Amino acid sequence: MTAKPMRIVSGMRPTGKLHLGHYHGVLRNWISLQQDYECIFFVADLHALTTEYAAPENIRTWSREILIDWLSAGLDPDKATIFVQSDVKEHAELHLLLSMITPLGWLERVPSYKELQQELSQKDLSTYGFLGYPLLQTADIALYDGQKVPVGQDQVPHIELSREVVRRFNYLYGETLVEPQPLLTETPRFLGPDRRKMSKSYDNCLFLSDTPRDIDKKIMSAITDPARIRKDDPGNPDICVIFDYHKLHNTPDGVAHVNEKCRNATLGCVDDKRKMAELVNAFLDPIRKKREDLERHPEILDEILKKGTARAEILAKATLDRVKKAMKFA
Ligand code: TRP
Repeated sequence: MTAKPMRIVSGMRPTGKLHLGHYHGVLRNWISLQQDYECIFFVADLHALTTEYAAPENIRTWSREILIDWLSAGLDPDKATIFVQSDVKEHAELHLLLSMITPLGWLERVPSYKELQQELSQKDLSTYGFLGYPLLQTADIALYDGQKVPVGQDQVPHIELSREVVRRFNYLYGETLVEPQPLLTETPRFLGPDRRKMSKSYDNCLFLSDTPRDIDKKIMSAITDPARIRKDDPGNPDICVIFDYHKLHNTPDGVAHVNEKCRNATLGCVDDKRKMAELVNAFLDPIRKKREDLERHPEILDEILKKGTARAEILAKATLDRVKKAMKFA
């Protein structure tokens, strides 16, 4: 195969607006990858359907929200190819073709299958579509000859399955598809102000779309060092979420300064939180400005999607062509 620039493929399910946990865990990495690699990023709305099929009416709104979050935070449509999965029909078609060669046992063995079924036991996930979740993901990646897939640790078994399916395809029909690899990046911990994992279900999210007042309120409610009762008690920044936030939103000097003043009790938690709310709001301000623009001019987003979809389609059609030829099906 000829040498091509390394291609990165990743998707995100539209399950609601993005928060700072998503930003520091995933989006920031995507924004930096787009500088150096050819990146394909899409809203995985078909994947959302595998768990939300009973109430699919929010998926379209969430897809739009997530796209606005991406673009406001710095994903650049001139650098990366950005689109919505279901707008490129080839995802569904390749998924179908790959389903013909995928043993059921491979899918049943993927750990997230049983785990998520149990976790989301209020939903009936004993469906064909849900079992095929990682196979649809395989199609997403193989369609673009994706070599590296930036994902979290939890997704590694999905990429393993992708590799196995690609290998089986190439074995049956000849070298056609590219074997992908996970791209794991060290991601910092970004907990909610209540020190639990930031999550919609805990109602503890600092959203990229929060107003300055929302941020002030949420950060002022944060739990710092519970052993520190009075301002002149020395504090322990190592167990404080606000100190975690400093590591991501303050300068190295600022972090050192807070570390010292907390430990020697010359900086109180209330003042520290006030400062943090300022830092987070300063970080979000330019994102808010871009969001305002995108919300005021929906045609900008439409244009971006049109361009991204067209580019994705060119790549996807070429792969599907190769796939069908290899299968002697075209
Ligand atoms: N399964 C991924 C998640 O839940 C989302 C996803 C769908 C994806 N298709 C993908 C990620 C392809 C990487 C590549 O986060």
